[in-house]
Amino acid sequence: MFIEEKIDAKKDHGESNQVPMAEARELCKSFDGQQVLNGLNLQVGREENLVLIGKSGAGKSVLFKCLVGLMRPDSGKAWLFGKDISSLNYKDLNRIRLQVGFLFQGAALYDSMTVGENIAFPLRQHNRRIRESEVKDAVQEVLEQVGLPEAVNRMSSELSGGMRKRIGLARTLVTHPEFMLYDEPTTGLDAVTAREISELIRQLQQEKKISSLVITHDMACARIVSDRIAVLKEGSIRAEGTYEQLHASEDDWVKPFFDTSF
Ligand SMILES: Nc1ncnc2c1ncn2[C@@H]1O[C@H](COP(=O)(O)OP(=O)(O)OP(=O)(O)O)[C@@H](O)[C@H]1O
Ligand SMILES: [Mg+2]
Repeated sequence: MFIEEKIDAKKDHGESNQVPMAEARELCKSFDGQQVLNGLNLQVGREENLVLIGKSGAGKSVLFKCLVGLMRPDSGKAWLFGKDISSLNYKDLNRIRLQVGFLFQGAALYDSMTVGENIAFPLRQHNRRIRESEVKDAVQEVLEQVGLPEAVNRMSSELSGGMRKRIGLARTLVTHPEFMLYDEPTTGLDAVTAREISELIRQLQQEKKISSLVITHDMACARIVSDRIAVLKEGSIRAEGTYEQLHASEDDWVKPFFDTSF
């Protein structure tokens, strides 16, 4: 649907495979003298799932916002699909954001709408000339992707937390993002549902080639979805590696993330 409008990183970089999905270089951000990001560097590769962990208040959500231009860093730069987002005008920034899917905590659905209407909403917003038959097909396709093919006529207010999360994800997927940002996708869910959501994120990457940056405190989720984990501490990435590598870390401040004994 947005094919012809998509910003093509290849135009700016000869070798597109070398261009990360997202990149932060030397990002700094402070609020009222409190330095939250302090020269942070990070890359999310093509078709990669990167999990970001860090204590509450470490600056994970601030980093997310800086990466997609919802917040301006004090210094440093953020790139999306090879584009320096600080150099984009409003129209280009909006266009590039269409290629990014966001799933924020609480996945706010419109309770007064059916599931189908909720999912159709962003489609109609981004393409006002879309035909009803196309909307119907697109809604059904994403409902099947998230494992809820029968839910189209349900009222959103009747859904369980796990179903809301899936529908929130379906609503994001309907505009075909290439890169997903998940902020705490499993928070508030029981262990079984959390696992199902984590496996869905993994499956989307493997089958649809959608890479992701996932913020989570849920290490079972991190284990399932991650190709790589980055640990944010005191404003910068202080450790990076696979789940197994970090799990075996001897660092006193990495260990507690993997300690399930408390
Ligand atoms: N718009 C803002 N104005 C002032 N301070 C802010 C703003 N946004 C974030 N902060 C501060 O920046 C710090 C990092 O916040 P952030 O939301 O990124 O934490 P987090 O790592 O996402 O934490 P959590 O795991 O609890 O979600 C916090 O001290 C927060 O109060
Ligand atoms: Mg946060």
